[in-house]
Amino acid sequence: MSSSDISPAQSAAQIGLIGLGTMGRNLMLNIAEKGFPIAVFNRTSERTEAFHEEAGELAKNIVPALDLKSFVEAIKPPRAIILMVPAGEAVDAQIAALKPLLSRDDLIIDAGNANYHDTNRRAEEAEGGDGPRFMGIGVSGGEEGARNGPSIMGGGAQDAWDQVGHILEAISAKYEGEACAAFLGTAGAGHLVKTVHNGIEYADMQMIAEVYGVMRDGLGSSAAEIGDVFAKLNEGILQSYLIEISAKVAGTNDSETGKPMLDIILDTAGQKGTGRWTAIEALMLGTPASTIEAAVASRNMSARLDERKQGQEVFGAAPQKLGGHPVTPEMIEAALVAGKIICYAQGFGLILEAAKQYGWSMPLPEIARIWRNGCIIRSAMLNDMATALGEDPNRNLMFAPFFAEKLKETHQALRELVSIAVLNGLPVPALSAALSYFDVMRTGRSTANMLQGLRDFFGAHGFERTDKDGSGFHGPWALGN
Ligand code: 6PG
Repeated sequence: MSSSDISPAQSAAQIGLIGLGTMGRNLMLNIAEKGFPIAVFNRTSERTEAFHEEAGELAKNIVPALDLKSFVEAIKPPRAIILMVPAGEAVDAQIAALKPLLSRDDLIIDAGNANYHDTNRRAEEAEGGDGPRFMGIGVSGGEEGARNGPSIMGGGAQDAWDQVGHILEAISAKYEGEACAAFLGTAGAGHLVKTVHNGIEYADMQMIAEVYGVMRDGLGSSAAEIGDVFAKLNEGILQSYLIEISAKVAGTNDSETGKPMLDIILDTAGQKGTGRWTAIEALMLGTPASTIEAAVASRNMSARLDERKQGQEVFGAAPQKLGGHPVTPEMIEAALVAGKIICYAQGFGLILEAAKQYGWSMPLPEIARIWRNGCIIRSAMLNDMATALGEDPNRNLMFAPFFAEKLKETHQALRELVSIAVLNGLPVPALSAALSYFDVMRTGRSTANMLQGLRDFFGAHGFERTDKDGSGFHGPWALGN
């Protein structure tokens, strides 16, 4: 279709979208369904035409464009264009291709899983140039969320959000009527929050996989039995999308072999990078995110299948059977509750630290609120987190009275589960990391005095004393003493 084929009604598209992969196509249908006429463009035009035809009723709100120029012309100025293309170079290439066709008032919105450093750079380039404005939004919820309501984490200039916020709120998931979409801060703020969301997603999933391992290898439970345990857990405090689908994944049989699907799936996990970025960011910002780091490392270890097989040959498989140690569903539930609180305390702590270092406002309670529905980590507990962060966003979430109480009730179960697993050779890296964080963070006098002593001994790095003010003290081992 060329621009001359576009009818006057169609040229009033209120927004445009480039990239009709699964996420882009579902987002297109969601936007059209909410009554916003949308122009769409895809690199391969057959896809654009095919999806338009398949849109049925909604096709009247969709303007399929076969070239970039007619796509741009189909959108009402000032234009807003969502990019749903793979993160990285494809985004820069698309911006470069659009730039000559757009004016200063227009707006490009990157809705992919971008590295927020790239979003910062693109926002800065847009601000300093004479081309279109730029914003980055994190969109979570997978295919289903994109179609029926994702969680949307907005970043960029306030005026950019003001231009499109009503559309993003309309297409987002709702939690008791409240939109799960919000403006979170300038430049890459939205993408940073999405990255941390994914880091938490990694840790949440890793802890689920670890208790699955304790049940499979320690208790000898079948996939179906494990599915039943997760289904039961989903009725309690752990109610969440990830626990719900854990029950479904464990309870499903392979249609080809009739065997439990989980017993057929190869045990090497893929990753696209957002979990790793979260861990890198935590290290760079100097904030502890050990549960997320453990989850990333676990995926990396899982990918070394041949090496693991070699390890089993060299060292023999761990005993694994739990012997006389009882592991009950109640213990599993309590351990997961403790692990989850700690993992989120670390994730929100990371966001808080980034906000401080970058001068972003980052409304933490709002972030918890927009994660209550639509996104992959949605859970009942996020509502309590929103309340706790609303009381004091600067406090470690573990210390909020509600969660402190929960941790007091559950940390012993986490300790028992981790101990039993470790004694029997069952790997629980994320749960152990959570437990270690808990133990470190309740130790008023840590062991870092030893580190400081060693640093001073070999490098005269200096230390502070407990009995005097000031810094740069040295031990009597210092040269010249
Ligand atoms: C979401 C998901 C989504 C995607 C992850 C998967 O919030 O909708 O997080 O963004 O499923 O990127 O990441 P990995 O492939 O790295 O597991």
